[in-house]
Amino acid sequence: MADLTVDVAGLRLENPFILASGVWGETGATLARALRAGAAAVVTKSVGLRPRPGYPNPTIVEVPSGLINSMGLPNPGIEEYGAEMEEALRPGRPVIGSIFGATAGEFAALARRMERWGVSALELNLSCPHAKGLGAQLGQDPGTTKRITAAVKAAVDIPVFVKLTPTVASIAAIGRAAAAGGADALVAINTLKAMAIDLDLCIPVLGHGTGGYSGPGIKPVGVACVYELFKAVRVPLIGAGGVSTGEDAAEYLMAGATALEVGTLVLRKRDRTFRQLSRELARFLASRGHRSARSLTGRAHRGD
Ligand code: SIN
Repeated sequence: MADLTVDVAGLRLENPFILASGVWGETGATLARALRAGAAAVVTKSVGLRPRPGYPNPTIVEVPSGLINSMGLPNPGIEEYGAEMEEALRPGRPVIGSIFGATAGEFAALARRMERWGVSALELNLSCPHAKGLGAQLGQDPGTTKRITAAVKAAVDIPVFVKLTPTVASIAAIGRAAAAGGADALVAINTLKAMAIDLDLCIPVLGHGTGGYSGPGIKPVGVACVYELFKAVRVPLIGAGGVSTGEDAAEYLMAGATALEVGTLVLRKRDRTFRQLSRELARFLASRGHRSARSLTGRAHRGD
């Protein structure tokens, strides 16, 4: 049996599959459920300083090869969210705290709080594609990305991951900025800004209008971003975007990823997601004579 264990910035994972932020991350119970169902680690829903109700319904629509969602970063605020952490941490596996803010100071305050709740690492949401003054509006600027990352690094001792938006002229430039700010790993990619129109009502389907496109349709975009980042930076990469099979995972690993985040698939496969992906990846590795998942990282660059 091929070895599926990987190490991301000192975080040892039993397999490369991590529950992505936003899916099952609202409560400690669902995070624990994903860990018990075979996720090597889980990322919480993105949490801010104050409670946020999110956008009006509808917040999700199915489109060819994926979904568009526009929740609006709903969360109870960092103080309330602490109540969920105890349950999320019960399985004894890594919980990664996703945070969003409007300034470097807000990110640093959230990071300190998350660290105290007991998370193993932080994920900075610099990539939500539709929130005014937050997410991608910050993460599209290299200077802001570096400043926020550096502020969080100075505030905590745990590893800091930065989740990047693909909606930039050069993801390599943003990745380099995050690495210069001290990022311990980069997550690529968050969703792509997208819209669906209701042809009878002649209005956008989603309450907010635009949302973020996820699922199999964005996998080639994610793979290209990971490939570019692997050439640009020397920090571990976590691939995200449309991972639906063990072969998708292998593709991301070959592009340069060390681990993978899985989101949209979980909505379809639920508890079966993670063990099935691990089985499929192990089968792929065995079928090609690879001894470990680790050995695939960056293989597609050998001819560079
Ligand atoms: C949302 O809450 O609407 C999505 C968050 C994200 O895309 O990062």
